[in-house]
Amino acid sequence: MTTSVLIDYSQPLGDSAETGVCSTHQAWARVPQEPTPSRRAELKSQILALLQQRNAALVAHYYVHPDLQDLAEASGGLVADSLEMARFGKSHAAQTLVVCGVRFMGETAKILSPEKRVLMPDLDATCSLDLGCPTREFSAFCDAHPERTVVVYANTSAEVKARADWVVTSGCALDIVRALKAEGKKILWGPDKHLGAYIQRETGADMLLWNGACIVHDEFKAFELQALKQQYPEAAVLVHPESPADVIALADVVGSTAVILRAARELPARTLIVATDNGMMHRLRTHHPDKTFIEAPTSGDSATCKSCAHCPWMAMNGLEDLAHVLSSGAHEIHIPENLIPRARAPIQRMLDFTAARAAPTGASGLVPHLGAA
Ligand code: 13P
Ligand code: SF4
Repeated sequence: MTTSVLIDYSQPLGDSAETGVCSTHQAWARVPQEPTPSRRAELKSQILALLQQRNAALVAHYYVHPDLQDLAEASGGLVADSLEMARFGKSHAAQTLVVCGVRFMGETAKILSPEKRVLMPDLDATCSLDLGCPTREFSAFCDAHPERTVVVYANTSAEVKARADWVVTSGCALDIVRALKAEGKKILWGPDKHLGAYIQRETGADMLLWNGACIVHDEFKAFELQALKQQYPEAAVLVHPESPADVIALADVVGSTAVILRAARELPARTLIVATDNGMMHRLRTHHPDKTFIEAPTSGDSATCKSCAHCPWMAMNGLEDLAHVLSSGAHEIHIPENLIPRARAPIQRMLDFTAARAAPTGASGLVPHLGAA
């Protein structure tokens, strides 16, 4: 039997006094202004020097500001998807890790390397999936289905991870659920309903889905994407699986940010339409100047407002804050000691699984969508 039950649940994207984190509009209000060109150059060289002085490694997600991605590369750190970011902190010799991304990425680094100091430019940079999956409600959902294996996306709090049997990222979720299904396991999945539904369609696993979504990927529109495909019939369509099902149905390749990069490198298409956060465009365009990348549409012609396809929490990471945390040691991630082993177990399970598979980027390979047009 294959079941998809959407749990009626509204995301509490509300008051930071209540949640302790930034709601969407608060995040946009806190996105740092672009420094002047001279200040920008000054900050960049200051950051490179501080990274050396402090024996610190900089790890950045593909969605953060290009300056931060460039600094991570220039300093011998890493720009990566969330799976590689998790692996990196543990294996790197640096005693301080500076994570440019969102809170769950910093927390994962700390959970895996509790002996290290983990800093973030802004600790309030969160994620709508994390916000939409409060521990108490999610635990009650798990308690109501004790026969199910709890699989949670990495975009969750340390407490929610501690409640899970497995943590997955978009780079390995498909393989892990497929393996669990082969063992006859029924799955309780949270929080991203689109990713969960995609995995369910691909694997046929018996999955109960939590009703969370990424506010960025949820905005991609299938009708307009279809029109864009007609305009560029030779283009390949690359889609992150946090997108709605009708958008995924139009994809040539579905996968994590790492899979999207790999597809851009390996596919023969010269034009690629990309449905993911537009922070990815920096790397795609700098690594493939001979190819044309088009952002997938987030609204139709008649819309009066268009989503910007950029994560407000990723955008909160800026040069000034990065320099500040490196010089002061501020914005350190702390996780209660008793929580760490419980949150680490399901993450470690994921890392062991992906290491055993030895996939080059932790990705499950290019996943051509079976229903692709
Ligand atoms: P990746 O695992 O593909 O890096 O995605 C993380 C994320 O937050 C996407 O919105
Ligand atoms: Fe969360 Fe979406 Fe932002 Fe990724 S892009 S951090 S899933 S809100």
